[in-house]
Amino acid sequence: MPEDNISIKGIHHIELLVGNAKQAAYYYRKAFGFSQIAYSGLETGNRNSTSYVLSQGSIRLILTTPLNSRNWISKHIKKHSDGVYDIAFHVDDVDYCFEKAIERGAQAVLKPHILKDSNGFAKRAAIHTYGNTIHSFISTNNYSGDFLPHFEKKIYKEDSIGLRFIDHVVGNVEVGKMSQWADFYSNVLGFTNIIHFTDKDISTKYSALMSKVMENDNGRIKFPINEPAQGVKKSQIEEFLDYYGGPGVQHIALLTDDIINTISRFREQGVEFLHVPDTYYENLESRVGPIKEDVSIIKELGILVDRDEEGYLLQLFTKPIQDRPTLFYEIIQRRGSKGFGQGNFQALFESIEREQALRGNL
Ligand code: FE2
Repeated sequence: MPEDNISIKGIHHIELLVGNAKQAAYYYRKAFGFSQIAYSGLETGNRNSTSYVLSQGSIRLILTTPLNSRNWISKHIKKHSDGVYDIAFHVDDVDYCFEKAIERGAQAVLKPHILKDSNGFAKRAAIHTYGNTIHSFISTNNYSGDFLPHFEKKIYKEDSIGLRFIDHVVGNVEVGKMSQWADFYSNVLGFTNIIHFTDKDISTKYSALMSKVMENDNGRIKFPINEPAQGVKKSQIEEFLDYYGGPGVQHIALLTDDIINTISRFREQGVEFLHVPDTYYENLESRVGPIKEDVSIIKELGILVDRDEEGYLLQLFTKPIQDRPTLFYEIIQRRGSKGFGQGNFQALFESIEREQALRGNL
């Protein structure tokens, strides 16, 4: 790691570009338990787009939609449909981060600039990453408002379902590009490669993928990067690339401390999850060892369990949350394990493939 490392405190927010932000915001509130905290649109002087800011635990999402067909957001949506545009980093020194990133080969999106309102000012710059995805650098050291300048407070309080923070964000890139993007995160942003899954680790009868997990220096940001690998049939990563129109964010993992409560609430609120076959739960505890949770409830809710040397984790994956089979969410609870559920890959991918076959894409 270079000495003059870019220091990132964490993820400030994730911005999604969507076809109808008003309805998407309602879905995230009523199905995911996010509260709305801020708004930007015509009423606040924003002539081009409307944004809703949603919050739960320390997770903040911005849902943005264009107000006409001429602006760049419309092009983004035409190509990708709903998806993640910006994984924004919270930093202290935007100028330094931007300058160093550019010096080390990053492509600029936005030069450092000041955003100001009556609560003070924030600073923002942005660089490109894979596909049409970007990373903003944001500093709010001189800002006392609830979110960022140019957003108005507009609150719809919802009942939290226990989501606390963003555990990891996974990017899908083209064949042969995984290592290139892993190098980007290590050379430009000073991340470390903590895990490398080869196609031998992650493959089923049909489809395979490879993955490198990149982590920032304080461990708060984890970015696995996947590329498709050769299988008998089409890899799930290839299906994503086809429907997203290129590389992009495949899933966002949200952490909870009580997955039983969180998944119960999700299911009550109509969110669909990948189906886990009953056979997965036969001899579960002999495979993963004893767990604190009641196995019959885990089975009823379709939650997956995996163990490594440090402990275990519980996880579950939503179906894609828009009509294109692209972005989905993972819900994860960690009981010591810092892994990603490698032991579940087989069961999980068979489930993903069943859905892929139903879509006629396998
Ligand atoms: Fe994940």
